[in-house]
Amino acid sequence: MLVRQCFSAALFRGKTVFVTGGGSGINLGVAKNFAALGANVGICGRTREKLEKAADELRALGAKVCALTADVRDYAALECAFARSREALGPIDTLVCGAAGNFLVPAEKLSANGFKAVVDIDLLGSFNATRAAFEQLRETKGTVIFISAGMAFMPHAYQVHVGAAKAGIDMMMKNLALEWGRFGIRANSIVPGPIEGTEGMKRLAGPEATQAIVASVPLGRMGSVDDIGQTAVFLASPLASYVSGCVVVCDGGANLAGSARFNAGAEALLHQMGVGGDTLNGGAVNR
Ligand code: COA
Repeated sequence: MLVRQCFSAALFRGKTVFVTGGGSGINLGVAKNFAALGANVGICGRTREKLEKAADELRALGAKVCALTADVRDYAALECAFARSREALGPIDTLVCGAAGNFLVPAEKLSANGFKAVVDIDLLGSFNATRAAFEQLRETKGTVIFISAGMAFMPHAYQVHVGAAKAGIDMMMKNLALEWGRFGIRANSIVPGPIEGTEGMKRLAGPEATQAIVASVPLGRMGSVDDIGQTAVFLASPLASYVSGCVVVCDGGANLAGSARFNAGAEALLHQMGVGGDTLNGGAVNR
């Protein structure tokens, strides 16, 4: 892994990293980058089988792993998971709040419960995790990394629930950086661009839209889960010891092109699914 060529393989030896939603996708990629640098890794998620498979992959990189079933919407379940992780791995040095839910839906067709489901997983779930891990983070003078999204600062069509949740996450991150700096705790967010092979891309863009999106990325390629993992490793490392309260965008410059291509692709996907309605006014001219 590239991270081993750039950082010492012992950078996080004796340190514990806990990743919510760490059973797959970007979050597993993040967990693997820490595992490759010697960290003990805790992960939680809703699906036992996914967690077990992920744990095997992390152990293969040399990590001591604690994989626990917990839904981030359930505060008591998270408290229990962090207590068990502490017993197995020691206190958390870095908490990565990655658990998220997403689907495309026109705002006028989204139910209140659908909006709530995403806000509960992304925003409340991230608060639950940081709150439940606070005592451990205070003990280690740890760091929190939130996985945000471009929807937090650029409106993307059919993502009203996600935009609200992720914008909330980024402001919560800044509040925590402000309040918990006195405990030596740092907080930052990472905004991933289009990342290949992820559940998010499957849900948000069909194959044709993916091509169009890639064409709009200034660096001319999709991102990989390792791109996000490498950014997380930097933010958790002593190299970033004076970095707190930042939204770090890791997207190949994708946000600079606005959301018009995403919007067009999302609209096409919704049509294919039989959910889409009219063509979006202004969709093609968004920035
Ligand atoms: N379009 C519109 N509404 C939807 C929807 C869709 N595609 N999928 C779910 N909803 C609504 C449901 O209809 C329900 O609302 P209702 O009670 O008014 O009918 C509400 O959302 C909750 O759905 P439910 O399936 O009970 O929620 P859940 O907690 O089991 O699942 C989700 C949460 C919906 C976010 C689900 O997609 C999920 O688990 N995602 C995790 C994986 C993921 O999204 N990864 C990508 C991250 S980028």
